[in-house]
Amino acid sequence: MTDTRHPAPRLRPAQAGDAPFLERMLLEAFNWDRPRFTRAALLALPPAAHYVSGWPQAGDLGVVAEDARGRGLGAAWARSFPAEDPGYGHVAPHIPELTLAVVPGQRGRGVGGALLDALVLAAAAAGCAALSLSVEDGNRARRLYEGRGFVRVGREGDADTLLLRLRSASRAAVPPPRTGPRGPR
Ligand SMILES: CC(C)(COP(=O)(O)OP(=O)(O)OC[C@H]1O[C@@H](n2cnc3c(N)ncnc32)[C@H](O)[C@@H]1OP(=O)(O)O)[C@@H](O)C(=O)NCCC(=O)NCCS
Repeated sequence: MTDTRHPAPRLRPAQAGDAPFLERMLLEAFNWDRPRFTRAALLALPPAAHYVSGWPQAGDLGVVAEDARGRGLGAAWARSFPAEDPGYGHVAPHIPELTLAVVPGQRGRGVGGALLDALVLAAAAAGCAALSLSVEDGNRARRLYEGRGFVRVGREGDADTLLLRLRSASRAAVPPPRTGPRGPR
């Protein structure tokens, strides 16, 4: 039955004008369990800000979900990082790292899953070998990822690094797990 209060979100590629919304969604991802950062504090933290800085850059992939009035409901995007400037869920420089968040009040209605599916399709179409991410202990988002085929490949502090292989990459193309200290996320 169609839910007239919450119709299916519209999904579209993330554009340059979406940078402020991606910053807002980055804040939601970092504050997933409690208010740890203000927007200003987060964007002043280089290992966090580099998920959105200069959006969009070559190779970036992104999807925005919005309602019928064009209001943002959530976003999923992926960006690659060099080994010397890794993200929290870094596996390899050629494997983009995924960020996903839905605005509070719109969660648990399928928006996040739809965004994740669309981003995975976009990454596969772009020829990515895999997508990676970091998920902290206790975050229910893990179920969403594991349900889509993400598997644990590493551990950093109190978070697991998950990987979704997108095509028949050789074992050499996806390096072995990494462990070590990490920052908050
Ligand atoms: C995680 C998140 C993107 C999922 O989007 P969503 O629209 O709520 O998810 P969907 O309705 O498509 O799918 C439901 C699944 O999402 C997860 N989920 C649902 N509500 C959630 C919430 N409030 N917080 C975290 N995960 C949630 C669960 O895995 C749920 O499945 P389950 O009910 O079987 O446990 C969204 O809840 C969110 O923005 N959470 C805060 C930010 C965050 O944690 N981002 C991920 C960082 S790794």
